[in-house]
Amino acid sequence: MLALSLYGVFLILDMRAIHGQIEDEKIRESLGERPYIIMIGEVEDHAYWNLVRDGGKAYAEAHHMYLHYMGPENPNPNDQRDLLRQAIDIKPDGLIVQGISDTFIPLINEAIARGIPVVTVDSDQPDSDRISYVGTDNYAMGQAMARDVLSHVETIKAGVITGSETNDHHQLRLAGIESVLNESDQAEILSVAVSNIKRVNAREKTYQMLRDYPEINVLVGVSALDVIGMTEAMDVLGREDIYVVGFDTLKENLELLAKGRVDTLVSQQPYEMGMRSMDVIRTILDGHDVPEMIHTESRLVRDVTQ
Ligand code: BGC
Repeated sequence: MLALSLYGVFLILDMRAIHGQIEDEKIRESLGERPYIIMIGEVEDHAYWNLVRDGGKAYAEAHHMYLHYMGPENPNPNDQRDLLRQAIDIKPDGLIVQGISDTFIPLINEAIARGIPVVTVDSDQPDSDRISYVGTDNYAMGQAMARDVLSHVETIKAGVITGSETNDHHQLRLAGIESVLNESDQAEILSVAVSNIKRVNAREKTYQMLRDYPEINVLVGVSALDVIGMTEAMDVLGREDIYVVGFDTLKENLELLAKGRVDTLVSQQPYEMGMRSMDVIRTILDGHDVPEMIHTESRLVRDVTQ
């Protein structure tokens, strides 16, 4: 019975893949000379990834290219890798992929070996054969966040909510934070929990963390929706005495900054990442060299008018 229903699930997945492939072939035929680019992000529909996608699509429209954005329905590295697998088989003219872990390296290398230029976006795999990376310097910004905390809080007892335990760019941010805080005898990280880039998880994990460690006086959010969940948990517990710093200047996060609920945000340029990664692909297709690393602007924002 179980085997039968599993077979059904795989059949549906297979049919979807085939259907997707046929759709893609149809799109290709209608494109004529326009290069067909596939971008694979962390999720299909997400406030941050929609900006990356939109930047890429705007570039495609302006430069006579076509961009197909794909991402798993929910963040899941295995599903994301499956999409990469399917994308390679479609043999697009270029691939832009969030390189979240080294398990992506064999596929990235296979794409390159099959003549498909690959650019990583938002999260890099420098040990792969990818041609270029476009995104934030994640380690440096982790360090910048921690220095911000050091310069505003005297004795630090920190709780960290990170997007994921396995995504390399989140790990780089965390390593940057730890490298600075561990140097100081005034700072201690009491707990680290994972939100899986979901606001509801960030809220629940923060709530539990503040129950377990009421002495926490600094909360650090490593991915885009973490500060929202963190402040929601603080509201439930009536905690206003916590210094909050976190990633991304998405609209809701900026509102929290304006209200003084969040002290510092780290800005990234997701829209520009989409545009620049497409521009890199265009340049490669035109036969020109591209830089191996393009760090898009990222800085600390403490004032919404900045
Ligand atoms: C990261 C993205 C991630 C997003 C999730 C951002 O800070 O750069 O990789 O998908 O947060 O909320």
